[in-house]
Amino acid sequence: MAAVDALILDRMQSSVGMIPDLAQHLVGAGGKRLRPLLTITAAQLCDYQGNAHHKLAAAVEFIHSATLLHDDVVDESALRRGKKPANLIWGNSASILVGDFLFARAFNLMVETGSMEALGILSNASSVIAEGEVQQLAALRNLAMTEDDYLRVIEAKTAALFAAATEVAPVIAGRPAAERNALREYGLKLGLAFQLVDDALDYGGMASALGKSVGDDFREGKMTLPVIRSLETASEDDKAFWRRVIVDHDQKDVDLEKAVSLLRSSGALESTMVLAKRYSKDAADALDVFPQSSLRDTLKELASFVVARIS
Ligand code: IPE
Ligand code: IPE
Ligand code: MG
Ligand code: MG
Repeated sequence: MAAVDALILDRMQSSVGMIPDLAQHLVGAGGKRLRPLLTITAAQLCDYQGNAHHKLAAAVEFIHSATLLHDDVVDESALRRGKKPANLIWGNSASILVGDFLFARAFNLMVETGSMEALGILSNASSVIAEGEVQQLAALRNLAMTEDDYLRVIEAKTAALFAAATEVAPVIAGRPAAERNALREYGLKLGLAFQLVDDALDYGGMASALGKSVGDDFREGKMTLPVIRSLETASEDDKAFWRRVIVDHDQKDVDLEKAVSLLRSSGALESTMVLAKRYSKDAADALDVFPQSSLRDTLKELASFVVARIS
């Protein structure tokens, strides 16, 4: 991971000063580096001997970083990794353009590995992420969004990158299809669990731990599973509340607190976590095609971490 971090730092450089300044603001603020960790660990599990996994891991984190820069513009967030989002310092245009730069650098790195297959997997994930973000945009403030619609969005915007991050490892290591399928399935289910937890934390978490504001999804009128599940059992009064705050976008200061209390009392936050835990278990189980080893244990522990996290 130290080698990956060094590569990230090296490849975000540019003679155009605003690029490294803005990129350093985001990349230097940390982040969990979960996706590159998955690529590296999966490559080790596959007994990969070269160094292309470093480049692919850095590429995965660049794709993730680019989506964060774009996402904070779209979501109008006030906090990212415990700091002011880059767009609130350099402006929306700069954030979007530097996001494009990082995204392009991800492709440079992938090409350098010489693996057309890995390039195919990650470029496919990139277009799927964009589709997921657009699908989500189109569904904003739509109370009729179903659980299936929601699951399709989070699979595209989040799980696709997790799945690609783990699938490229067996591919560059030349492992059999069963292992490739298993690692893809592991990443996909882990990614679904990860976004479900993220959506629960957006109501039930603490900004100080998250490094992001609580209530972003609410303020934006984003339909996430906690709201979808809560609507299923809501009284007429509560439905009227959700219509006002989500559809009409008429929100008062006390409304977030009321929303959190409805999501808690209806069991919607808990049931979102139950589904996340089911996906996390599916992810861990997918690894059973590999013989027991400390690396397999590490990946299984990461699946548990994802549903226990508060940050
Ligand atoms: C945030 O991802 C975006 C989502 C898919 C929810 P992370 O929670 O992995 O962000 P960092 O990299 O740790 O900041
Ligand atoms: C993740 O969704 C979006 C991406 C895949 C970029 P969110 O909008 O929930 O991510 P956060 O909560 O801002 O990190
Ligand atoms: Mg966001
Ligand atoms: Mg979120």
